[in-house]
Amino acid sequence: MNDQKTALITGASSGIGAEFARELAAKGYNLIIHGRRRELLEELAREISDKYAVSVRIEIAELASRAELDRLTKIVEQTENLEMLVNNAGYTTRENFHIEDLQGQINLLNVHLTATLALTHAAIPNMLRHGKGYIINVASVAGFFAAPRSALYCSTKAFLNTFSEVLHLELKDTPIKVQALCPGFTLSDFHKKLGYDPKDPCFKKFMTAQFIVSQSLKDLEKNKVYSIPGAKYKFIVLMSKWLPKRFIHFMTVKYYSRRRAAKVGTK
Ligand SMILES: NC(=O)c1ccc[n+]([C@@H]2O[C@H](COP(=O)([O-])OP(=O)(O)OC[C@H]3O[C@@H](n4cnc5c(N)ncnc54)[C@H](OP(=O)(O)O)[C@@H]3O)[C@@H](O)[C@H]2O)c1
Repeated sequence: MNDQKTALITGASSGIGAEFARELAAKGYNLIIHGRRRELLEELAREISDKYAVSVRIEIAELASRAELDRLTKIVEQTENLEMLVNNAGYTTRENFHIEDLQGQINLLNVHLTATLALTHAAIPNMLRHGKGYIINVASVAGFFAAPRSALYCSTKAFLNTFSEVLHLELKDTPIKVQALCPGFTLSDFHKKLGYDPKDPCFKKFMTAQFIVSQSLKDLEKNKVYSIPGAKYKFIVLMSKWLPKRFIHFMTVKYYSRRRAAKVGTK
Protein backbone atom coordinates (compact mmCIF):
# COMPACT_ATOMS: atom_id res chain seq x y z
CA MET A 1 0.00 0.00 0.00
CA ASN A 2 2.98 2.32 0.64
CA ASP A 3 3.73 3.19 -2.99
CA GLN A 4 0.07 4.07 -3.57
CA LYS A 5 -0.66 7.71 -4.44
CA THR A 6 -1.79 9.90 -1.56
CA ALA A 7 -4.16 12.88 -1.32
CA LEU A 8 -4.28 15.38 1.52
CA ILE A 9 -7.56 17.26 1.92
CA THR A 10 -7.98 20.11 4.36
CA GLY A 11 -11.43 20.70 5.83
CA ALA A 12 -12.60 17.15 5.11
CA SER A 13 -14.89 16.76 8.13
CA SER A 14 -17.98 17.81 6.14
CA GLY A 15 -19.29 19.28 2.89
CA ILE A 16 -17.05 19.66 -0.15
CA GLY A 17 -13.91 18.33 1.60
CA ALA A 18 -15.65 15.14 2.78
CA GLU A 19 -16.91 14.59 -0.75
CA PHE A 20 -13.39 15.01 -2.17
CA ALA A 21 -12.29 12.32 0.29
CA ARG A 22 -14.99 9.90 -0.94
CA GLU A 23 -14.28 10.59 -4.64
CA LEU A 24 -10.51 10.35 -4.30
CA ALA A 25 -10.74 7.12 -2.29
CA ALA A 26 -12.88 5.72 -5.11
CA LYS A 27 -10.02 6.65 -7.46
CA GLY A 28 -7.58 4.66 -5.33
CA TYR A 29 -5.91 7.44 -3.32
CA ASN A 30 -4.67 6.83 0.19
CA LEU A 31 -6.02 9.73 2.21
CA ILE A 32 -4.88 12.20 4.81
CA ILE A 33 -8.08 13.91 5.93
CA HIS A 34 -7.82 17.07 7.95
CA GLY A 35 -10.29 19.01 10.04
CA ARG A 36 -11.08 19.90 13.65
CA ARG A 37 -14.22 17.82 14.35
CA ARG A 38 -12.59 14.47 15.15
CA GLU A 39 -15.85 12.49 15.43
CA LEU A 40 -16.92 13.41 11.89
CA LEU A 41 -13.47 12.59 10.51
CA GLU A 42 -13.50 9.22 12.28
CA GLU A 43 -16.96 8.47 10.89
CA LEU A 44 -15.79 9.39 7.38
CA ALA A 45 -12.63 7.28 7.76
CA ARG A 46 -14.76 4.26 8.79
CA GLU A 47 -17.16 4.80 5.86
CA ILE A 48 -14.28 4.98 3.36
CA SER A 49 -12.29 2.09 4.84
CA ASP A 50 -15.38 -0.14 4.68
CA LYS A 51 -15.75 0.60 0.96
CA TYR A 52 -12.27 1.00 -0.51
CA ALA A 53 -8.83 -0.60 -0.12
CA VAL A 54 -7.10 2.64 0.82
CA SER A 55 -5.54 3.91 4.03
CA VAL A 56 -7.13 6.89 5.79
CA ARG A 57 -5.15 8.98 8.25
CA ILE A 58 -6.77 11.71 10.32
CA GLU A 59 -5.01 14.99 11.08
CA ILE A 60 -6.57 17.49 13.48
CA ALA A 61 -5.25 21.03 13.18
CA GLU A 62 -6.52 24.56 13.77
CA LEU A 63 -5.22 26.23 10.61
CA ALA A 64 -5.29 29.71 12.16
CA SER A 65 -2.59 28.49 14.56
CA ARG A 66 0.93 28.82 13.14
CA ALA A 67 2.26 25.88 15.20
CA GLU A 68 -0.54 23.56 14.07
CA LEU A 69 -0.17 24.68 10.45
CA ASP A 70 3.60 24.05 10.65
CA ARG A 71 2.90 20.50 11.82
CA LEU A 72 0.56 19.87 8.88
CA THR A 73 3.06 21.47 6.49
CA LYS A 74 5.75 19.00 7.67
CA ILE A 75 3.36 16.16 6.88
CA VAL A 76 2.90 17.53 3.35
CA GLU A 77 6.69 17.81 2.97
CA GLN A 78 7.33 14.28 4.18
CA THR A 79 4.44 12.27 2.71
CA GLU A 80 5.72 9.87 0.08
CA ASN A 81 3.82 9.76 -3.22
CA LEU A 82 1.81 12.87 -2.38
CA GLU A 83 -0.09 13.41 -5.60
CA MET A 84 -3.05 15.55 -4.65
CA LEU A 85 -3.49 18.51 -2.31
CA VAL A 86 -6.94 20.00 -1.83
CA ASN A 87 -6.79 23.31 0.05
CA ASN A 88 -10.44 23.34 0.99
CA ALA A 89 -10.81 24.42 4.64
CA GLY A 90 -12.74 27.66 4.90
CA TYR A 91 -15.56 29.59 6.49
CA THR A 92 -16.90 33.11 6.63
CA THR A 93 -18.01 35.78 9.04
CA ARG A 94 -21.27 37.73 8.97
CA GLU A 95 -20.74 41.39 9.71
CA ASN A 96 -19.19 44.49 8.17
CA PHE A 97 -15.40 44.54 8.38
CA HIS A 98 -15.19 47.25 11.07
CA ILE A 99 -17.73 45.44 13.26
CA GLU A 100 -16.07 42.03 13.12
CA ASP A 101 -13.29 41.42 15.63
CA LEU A 102 -9.92 42.14 13.97
CA GLN A 103 -8.26 38.96 15.26
CA GLY A 104 -11.17 36.95 13.86
CA GLN A 105 -10.55 38.50 10.42
CA ILE A 106 -6.82 37.77 10.68
CA ASN A 107 -7.67 34.16 11.58
CA LEU A 108 -9.88 33.90 8.49
CA LEU A 109 -7.05 35.29 6.37
CA ASN A 110 -4.65 32.74 7.85
CA VAL A 111 -7.00 29.79 7.27
CA HIS A 112 -7.73 30.78 3.66
CA LEU A 113 -4.36 32.18 2.66
CA THR A 114 -1.42 31.42 4.99
CA ALA A 115 -2.45 27.77 5.20
CA THR A 116 -2.90 27.46 1.43
CA LEU A 117 0.46 29.14 0.77
CA ALA A 118 2.36 27.01 3.30
CA LEU A 119 0.84 23.68 2.24
CA THR A 120 1.21 24.44 -1.47
CA HIS A 121 4.81 25.61 -1.01
CA ALA A 122 5.61 22.31 0.69
CA ALA A 123 3.62 20.20 -1.79
CA ILE A 124 5.16 21.40 -5.07
CA PRO A 125 8.75 20.10 -4.51
CA ASN A 126 7.32 16.87 -3.13
CA MET A 127 5.06 16.42 -6.19
CA LEU A 128 7.93 17.23 -8.55
CA ARG A 129 9.94 14.43 -6.90
CA HIS A 130 6.93 12.13 -7.23
CA GLY A 131 6.65 13.09 -10.93
CA LYS A 132 2.98 14.07 -10.86
CA GLY A 133 0.70 16.35 -8.87
CA TYR A 134 -2.65 18.07 -8.58
CA ILE A 135 -3.40 21.10 -6.44
CA ILE A 136 -6.98 22.27 -6.00
CA ASN A 137 -7.54 25.54 -4.17
CA VAL A 138 -11.17 25.86 -3.17
CA ALA A 139 -12.01 29.50 -3.82
CA SER A 140 -15.56 30.69 -4.60
CA VAL A 141 -17.73 32.53 -7.10
CA ALA A 142 -17.59 35.21 -4.37
CA GLY A 143 -13.95 35.74 -5.41
CA PHE A 144 -15.21 37.47 -8.57
CA PHE A 145 -17.40 39.90 -6.62
CA ALA A 146 -17.30 42.46 -3.83
CA ALA A 147 -20.17 41.65 -1.51
CA PRO A 148 -21.09 43.60 1.62
CA ARG A 149 -20.27 41.92 4.96
CA SER A 150 -17.80 39.69 3.14
CA ALA A 151 -14.64 41.82 2.99
CA LEU A 152 -12.27 39.06 4.03
CA TYR A 153 -14.23 36.28 2.36
CA CYS A 154 -14.40 37.92 -1.09
CA SER A 155 -10.86 39.27 -1.01
CA THR A 156 -9.21 36.04 0.17
CA LYS A 157 -11.15 34.04 -2.43
CA ALA A 158 -10.08 36.55 -5.13
CA PHE A 159 -6.49 36.05 -3.96
CA LEU A 160 -6.90 32.26 -4.27
CA ASN A 161 -8.17 32.69 -7.84
CA THR A 162 -5.19 34.79 -8.91
CA PHE A 163 -2.71 32.68 -6.92
CA SER A 164 -3.96 29.50 -8.62
CA GLU A 165 -3.82 31.13 -12.06
CA VAL A 166 -0.23 32.25 -11.52
CA LEU A 167 0.81 28.77 -10.32
CA HIS A 168 -0.95 27.24 -13.33
CA LEU A 169 1.31 29.37 -15.57
CA GLU A 170 4.49 28.87 -13.52
CA LEU A 171 4.01 25.08 -13.52
CA LYS A 172 2.73 24.62 -17.06
CA ASP A 173 5.85 22.75 -18.19
CA THR A 174 5.82 20.45 -15.16
CA PRO A 175 3.60 17.45 -14.40
CA ILE A 176 1.64 19.48 -11.82
CA LYS A 177 -1.86 20.78 -12.54
CA VAL A 178 -3.39 23.60 -10.49
CA GLN A 179 -7.04 24.53 -10.23
CA ALA A 180 -9.09 27.25 -8.56
CA LEU A 181 -12.41 25.61 -7.75
CA CYS A 182 -15.12 28.29 -7.56
CA PRO A 183 -18.39 26.91 -6.23
CA GLY A 184 -21.57 28.93 -5.87
CA PHE A 185 -24.09 28.12 -3.12
CA THR A 186 -23.51 24.51 -2.06
CA LEU A 187 -25.11 22.27 0.55
CA SER A 188 -22.63 21.65 3.38
CA ASP A 189 -22.17 22.71 7.01
CA PHE A 190 -21.00 26.17 5.87
CA HIS A 191 -24.37 27.92 6.25
CA LYS A 192 -25.43 25.82 9.24
CA LYS A 193 -22.38 27.16 11.12
CA LEU A 194 -23.64 30.71 10.39
CA GLY A 195 -26.89 29.84 12.15
CA TYR A 196 -29.14 29.40 9.11
CA ASP A 197 -31.96 26.87 9.30
CA PRO A 198 -31.04 23.95 7.01
CA LYS A 199 -34.79 23.40 6.38
CA ASP A 200 -35.18 26.80 4.70
CA PRO A 201 -36.67 26.22 1.21
CA CYS A 202 -33.95 28.37 -0.39
CA PHE A 203 -31.45 25.60 0.26
CA LYS A 204 -33.32 23.51 -2.32
CA LYS A 205 -31.65 25.65 -4.99
CA PHE A 206 -28.17 24.91 -3.66
CA MET A 207 -25.84 22.55 -5.51
CA THR A 208 -24.67 19.33 -3.87
CA ALA A 209 -21.07 18.79 -2.79
CA GLN A 210 -21.03 15.66 -4.99
CA PHE A 211 -21.80 17.78 -8.05
CA ILE A 212 -19.08 20.32 -7.15
CA VAL A 213 -16.44 17.64 -6.69
CA SER A 214 -17.33 15.68 -9.83
CA GLN A 215 -17.16 18.89 -11.93
CA SER A 216 -13.86 19.86 -10.32
CA LEU A 217 -12.26 16.50 -11.07
CA LYS A 218 -13.54 16.53 -14.67
CA ASP A 219 -12.12 20.05 -15.17
CA LEU A 220 -8.82 18.97 -13.61
CA GLU A 221 -8.45 16.23 -16.21
CA LYS A 222 -8.92 18.91 -18.89
CA ASN A 223 -6.31 21.08 -17.11
CA LYS A 224 -8.81 23.95 -16.79
CA VAL A 225 -7.42 26.43 -14.27
CA TYR A 226 -10.90 27.64 -13.24
CA SER A 227 -13.62 25.17 -12.37
CA ILE A 228 -16.97 26.91 -11.97
CA PRO A 229 -19.61 24.23 -11.48
CA GLY A 230 -23.12 24.93 -12.81
CA ALA A 231 -24.28 26.83 -15.93
CA LYS A 232 -25.90 29.57 -13.81
CA TYR A 233 -22.65 30.35 -12.02
CA LYS A 234 -20.58 30.21 -15.22
CA PHE A 235 -22.97 32.84 -16.63
CA ILE A 236 -22.78 35.01 -13.48
CA VAL A 237 -18.96 34.97 -13.54
CA LEU A 238 -18.95 35.81 -17.25
CA MET A 239 -21.28 38.75 -16.60
CA SER A 240 -19.04 39.97 -13.76
CA LYS A 241 -16.35 40.57 -16.39
CA TRP A 242 -18.59 42.28 -18.96
CA LEU A 243 -21.11 44.40 -17.10
CA PRO A 244 -20.23 47.86 -15.75
CA LYS A 245 -19.03 47.84 -12.11
CA ARG A 246 -21.75 50.26 -11.00
CA PHE A 247 -24.45 47.92 -12.26
CA ILE A 248 -22.80 44.90 -10.61
CA HIS A 249 -22.51 46.79 -7.30
CA PHE A 250 -26.19 47.77 -7.48
CA MET A 251 -27.29 44.18 -8.17
CA THR A 252 -24.95 42.70 -5.55
CA VAL A 253 -26.18 45.00 -2.78
CA LYS A 254 -29.82 44.30 -3.73
CA TYR A 255 -29.28 40.55 -3.86
CA TYR A 256 -27.41 40.33 -0.57
CA SER A 257 -29.90 42.57 1.26
CA ARG A 258 -32.77 40.36 0.07
CA ARG A 259 -30.96 37.22 1.20
CA ARG A 260 -30.12 38.74 4.56
CA ALA A 261 -33.77 39.70 5.02
CA ALA A 262 -34.75 36.12 4.14
CA LYS A 263 -32.11 34.92 6.65
CA VAL A 264 -30.48 32.64 4.12
CA GLY A 265 -26.75 32.20 3.67
CA THR A 266 -25.10 34.67 1.39
CA LYS A 267 -21.70 33.24 0.61
N1 LIG B 1 -20.97 25.99 0.83
C1 LIG B 1 -20.91 26.99 -0.04
O1 LIG B 1 -21.94 27.58 -0.44
C2 LIG B 1 -19.56 27.42 -0.59
C3 LIG B 1 -19.55 28.24 -1.73
C4 LIG B 1 -18.32 28.62 -2.26
C5 LIG B 1 -17.14 28.21 -1.68
N2 LIG B 1 -17.18 27.40 -0.57
C6 LIG B 1 -15.90 27.01 0.02
O2 LIG B 1 -15.83 25.60 0.10
C7 LIG B 1 -14.89 25.24 1.13
C8 LIG B 1 -15.49 24.11 1.96
O3 LIG B 1 -16.64 24.60 2.63
P1 LIG B 1 -17.99 23.76 2.81
O4 LIG B 1 -19.05 24.48 2.09
O5 LIG B 1 -17.76 22.33 2.51
O6 LIG B 1 -18.24 24.01 4.38
P2 LIG B 1 -18.13 23.06 5.65
O7 LIG B 1 -18.99 21.87 5.49
O8 LIG B 1 -18.38 23.96 6.80
O9 LIG B 1 -16.60 22.61 5.66
C9 LIG B 1 -15.55 23.48 5.99
C10 LIG B 1 -14.34 22.70 6.42
O10 LIG B 1 -13.28 23.63 6.75
C11 LIG B 1 -12.76 23.30 8.01
N3 LIG B 1 -12.31 24.49 8.73
C12 LIG B 1 -12.99 25.65 8.89
N4 LIG B 1 -12.28 26.49 9.65
C13 LIG B 1 -11.15 25.86 10.00
C14 LIG B 1 -10.02 26.21 10.80
N5 LIG B 1 -9.95 27.39 11.42
N6 LIG B 1 -9.02 25.31 10.96
C15 LIG B 1 -9.12 24.11 10.37
N7 LIG B 1 -10.15 23.72 9.60
C16 LIG B 1 -11.15 24.57 9.42
C17 LIG B 1 -13.91 22.64 8.76
O11 LIG B 1 -13.37 21.82 9.77
P3 LIG B 1 -14.13 21.63 11.18
O12 LIG B 1 -15.55 22.05 10.98
O13 LIG B 1 -13.94 20.18 11.49
O14 LIG B 1 -13.44 22.52 12.10
C18 LIG B 1 -14.60 21.86 7.67
O15 LIG B 1 -14.00 20.61 7.51
C19 LIG B 1 -14.61 26.52 1.92
O16 LIG B 1 -13.33 27.01 1.55
C20 LIG B 1 -15.71 27.47 1.46
O17 LIG B 1 -15.31 28.82 1.52
C21 LIG B 1 -18.37 27.00 -0.01
